[in-house]
Amino acid sequence: MDWESFKRLRGSQKKAFFMRDGNIYHVIMAQQFDRGFLDEICNLATRIRQIAKSNEGTRFLLSLLQGRRAMLYFVQPSTRTFLSFMSACQILGMQCSEVRDTSTSSEVKGETPEDTVRTFSSYVDLIIMRYPEPGFAERIAFLLNNSGRPVPVINAGSGRDQHPTQALLDIYTLHRSFEDQGGIDGKKIALVGDLKRGRTVRSLAYLMKNYEGVKLYFVSPPELRMEDDLKEYLREHEVEFEESEDLAEVIPQVDAVYMTRIQDEYDLEGESKRIDYSRFHFKVEYLQLLKPNAIIMHPLPRRQELPTEIDQDRRAVYWRQVRNGMWVRVALIAKIFRVGGEIWHY
Ligand code: CP
Repeated sequence: MDWESFKRLRGSQKKAFFMRDGNIYHVIMAQQFDRGFLDEICNLATRIRQIAKSNEGTRFLLSLLQGRRAMLYFVQPSTRTFLSFMSACQILGMQCSEVRDTSTSSEVKGETPEDTVRTFSSYVDLIIMRYPEPGFAERIAFLLNNSGRPVPVINAGSGRDQHPTQALLDIYTLHRSFEDQGGIDGKKIALVGDLKRGRTVRSLAYLMKNYEGVKLYFVSPPELRMEDDLKEYLREHEVEFEESEDLAEVIPQVDAVYMTRIQDEYDLEGESKRIDYSRFHFKVEYLQLLKPNAIIMHPLPRRQELPTEIDQDRRAVYWRQVRNGMWVRVALIAKIFRVGGEIWHY
């Protein structure tokens, strides 16, 4: 199949292409994850963090992928995703290389990004990439699958389109938060803010088809509503959702509030400045409206939409999300390199 034909396939049809011998290989989009995989990755992450508590366990984890190498190609800014992936690789004994700015690679001499990444594949066993262009990680996975030296590709953020590993850590955080409350099934979740250009909310919303009876509330300014493609996907998979501009009215109804900042790096001509985003800030007084067992999430980085005073509330879980991101990424890399079984048997 050529790239143009592949590109037109639906996410569910592409899933097989991202697998190898029944195991996950490339991690490109949230639609490729099913419920079995999500449950397994959450349980594996918890097992790994238990093992890592002892010195012997730490040494065991370090031995699993010793001699393997990873390339972190991050040409959009990142703090958490970059560092948590690097830490995850190191926990499993991998060595990491990085390119964080194309001005330091031969792209500055006119080499294409495709040739650049293909070059990485000559030296490493895993490529983790953040790139501004939607679909680029998918194109690289396609290119490498048809090359002489395929290596797995992980999408660590593709423009305003997807951030599938953030969605995994968000699911892991929801899974742990609601462990004693029936899990994620049946929960009501508000996604708040710039839903049009926020890749984390897009990837997380895709995953909701894997859970029974979840209802989503899309709370955003009219200019920044969730895109139609995502809403169409939810309708097809019978995931209930409603749209609102009234955050205070939604908060008492939900089990999780997922805040996001305005994504003004994608402005074409400063249009964010004309939007009153203050209506989508989590005000300190909203804590009174929130259910006692509900949680407040944020992928971070944050701005004024989430005041630091909220951090003291036991329902604020966004710093746990940061930590969970590292463990879930260890679990993901372990799955890609098929060492999950050894971890379970430890
Ligand atoms: N959540 C997230 O993707 O953070 P970074 O941009 O810092 O990686």
